[in-house]
Amino acid sequence: MTDIANELSSAVGDIFEGFGLEKKLGQVRRADRPDLADYQCNGAMAAAKAAKRNPREIAGEVAPKIEALEMVESVDVAGPGFLNIKVSADTLQKRVAFVLSDEQAGGGKVETSRSVMMDFGGWNVAKPMHIGHLRSTIIGDSLQRLFRFLGDDVTSDVHLGDWGLQMGLLITEVQEEQPDLPYFDVDFEGDYPAESPVSMADLERLYPQASGKAKEDESKKEAARAATAELQAGRRGYRALWKHFCKVTQVGLERECGDLGVKFDLWKGESDANTLIPEIVEDLKSREVAELDDGAWIIRVEREEDKKDVPPFMLLNSQGAVGYHATDMGTILDRKRENKPDLTLYVVDARQALHFEQVFRAAEIAGYEKEAALEHIGFGTMNGKDGKPFKTREGGVLKLHDFIQQAKDKAIERLAETGMGEDFSAEERADIADKVALAAIKFADLSNVRTKNYVFDLDQFVAFEGKTGPYLLYAAVRVKSLMRRAKEEGIKAGEINLELKEERALALQLDAFEGALKLAYANRTPHGICDHVYNLAQAFSSFWTNAPILKEGVPADVKASRLALAQATLKQLETGLSLIGIETPERM
Ligand code: ARG
Repeated sequence: MTDIANELSSAVGDIFEGFGLEKKLGQVRRADRPDLADYQCNGAMAAAKAAKRNPREIAGEVAPKIEALEMVESVDVAGPGFLNIKVSADTLQKRVAFVLSDEQAGGGKVETSRSVMMDFGGWNVAKPMHIGHLRSTIIGDSLQRLFRFLGDDVTSDVHLGDWGLQMGLLITEVQEEQPDLPYFDVDFEGDYPAESPVSMADLERLYPQASGKAKEDESKKEAARAATAELQAGRRGYRALWKHFCKVTQVGLERECGDLGVKFDLWKGESDANTLIPEIVEDLKSREVAELDDGAWIIRVEREEDKKDVPPFMLLNSQGAVGYHATDMGTILDRKRENKPDLTLYVVDARQALHFEQVFRAAEIAGYEKEAALEHIGFGTMNGKDGKPFKTREGGVLKLHDFIQQAKDKAIERLAETGMGEDFSAEERADIADKVALAAIKFADLSNVRTKNYVFDLDQFVAFEGKTGPYLLYAAVRVKSLMRRAKEEGIKAGEINLELKEERALALQLDAFEGALKLAYANRTPHGICDHVYNLAQAFSSFWTNAPILKEGVPADVKASRLALAQATLKQLETGLSLIGIETPERM
């Protein structure tokens, strides 16, 4: 840790220790009342409780020692024993200079790098995107960016749902429409066509069609089940057809993820776990980890302290079939062998909490992975204004592409209204609109507490005012244009001298980056990054209002100092935004 709060904590902790008090009571944090102090320490109260002494007296004893620290300008004892600390201008100036020179923009790094597997995206082949998949993708991507930035070795895996009943439904539906294809001929021994017999659009049409029929007609459902079983058992034609379904879906999804600016290291799927399942079943049976219960093979995972019902982990159901539990167990073992992660994060809808609880416990019991190394990062639902999970305007299923397009259209509309980019080329305007749209979607999603539901309101999210992605883009672009103007005028950033209170406030905000990232990292909560960049933009805005930079009459050294502050802000703002997957245009 290099930030002021931590340096101070360590020094104040030593002072507490010198008085025979616990070091950790010297913890210092940003002041609740910025008008009174920069940082505060509340340790005197707890120390007094432990030592049965008067807190103000303890605070009074440590205060002069804190004041004597080189980084500190003054200390006040307030109320029952709060220590209000003001740091010296020099301390803040050094910190801003550090942010400016640091490749992490003051964001810090973890002490020990871990190997982290991130399982997110999780779309299903052919099935339409669920709004949960969008949230999973956005949150997972932000976490992969944050963990990488702080120094972990991250592998992201999209974990496609490519192995369930939907495959059998598709196979039977394609057969009904195109019965003469070689995939259905058991006697066919030649090579299957390289070209897929279905497009993405076909899949999108076929799946709802098939699942509708299966709901009404039990025999259709039975046929789909049988086809699924045959596919899983390895029937050649079905496997070949299935590969087409997966490939076509992957190509489509890769394009849409590209639009979202999200990349996965691995495009594996549930099916990849399949090869390991016979081995797992064999192993768990022979070690008597799994037990036979009413024809099914299960692992009991409930615990005495459980407050809710935790049903057993299902290895094989009574028909001998493998389901979601077993695939996830197979995936855990596969990753253990291939990637050896220290930690695996599953960024999946909170409604799957029980599933992961069962799987993680079973993995520990089986001895395949420690429960503590597996984490479900659940999230709430994105709802429409009606309070129900977000759908398209017509109430139909949501397609990722259409959803992004809606946001882009809205962004174009907003840009036109404000007259932004009027005299730019059509190409540049389109690029700006794309960035505004993505910033709106991502910031709206990530700035909420992850576990909460939220209401998606495109009008509000695409606004340039308020706590929105577009506001932050605008803030960054304003600083960029300032930098360009300074360059034209031949003004360079120079030595930093903090004089105005808005300058100090901005410097303090720059110092808070590392703490914000560490918290977001520890709790897996990107909203902490959103809060930081927003507060930074606000601190910059009041700085800019009160501290003119390029205005005539401002002394050269003041210009140079303020420009350095602006430059540090821009650097940290763009770094912070990149961690939530937001790219800023050069101008707007
Ligand atoms: N495909 C699943 C779904 O749509 C999500 C997969 C999440 N990842 C996992 N390892 N189970 O619900």
